[in-house]
Amino acid sequence: MIIAPSILSADFAELGAECQAVQKAGCDWIHIDVMDGHFVPNLTIGAGVVSSLRKYIKGTIDVHLMISPTQILLESFLTSGADIVTVHCEASSHLYKDIQQIKAANIKAGVALNPGTPIAMVLEVIDLVDLICVMTVNPGFGGQQFIDSQLKKIIELSYYTQPRNIVLEVDGGVTRENAGEIVAAGANVLVAGTAVFRGGNAQNPEIYQSNIAQLKASTMRLQSQFK
Ligand code: DX5
Ligand code: ZN
Repeated sequence: MIIAPSILSADFAELGAECQAVQKAGCDWIHIDVMDGHFVPNLTIGAGVVSSLRKYIKGTIDVHLMISPTQILLESFLTSGADIVTVHCEASSHLYKDIQQIKAANIKAGVALNPGTPIAMVLEVIDLVDLICVMTVNPGFGGQQFIDSQLKKIIELSYYTQPRNIVLEVDGGVTRENAGEIVAAGANVLVAGTAVFRGGNAQNPEIYQSNIAQLKASTMRLQSQFK
């Protein structure tokens, strides 16, 4: 089970140091939320920032594109140093072609679904993608409440992802209280912004270390109950 800190909750004035701090605290995936102020009511960073962060990130750069139409900026992220590029099935009229373009660039392809989007929207690309990202909040902001109804979507998707070795990522509202049941439902990557960055800063990575350790412990606890 992987914890992928979302730097949306980090200090934007210290993103390089923040990425180094959470890696030192035990995470080797970094989740980068790209927002265009059109697909979601927020604006964050572009491909140039991802390229600049590449030298600070030894592990996996997991880029989550909350932009539409996807095509306009997709190519810029395929040359940004990202290891995974995830597009929203709701943000493009040519999802199959977008996924083909990511794969042709030798980058791992992800598809994300918003809470109101049925899994049927991703089944036509299920044999193309490397990752499926289930949004468990309405995209745009960190610090929101986990939408419990998405647990059954995670369980349902896991029947498609497990036999295909597709990563099942859950994104939004993940806390030490719900991490166990999310992993029990079949998730293997938990994106966490607030739950990782809360109370810390790049100069005090030990707080990040304890936040991450508590998230991981809560998933082990539940699994041991199932044994
Ligand atoms: C929301 C983003 C999430 C968010 C997670 O649109 O995709 O990655 O930053 O933040 P928390 O963990 O605080 O919900
Ligand atoms: Zn995200």
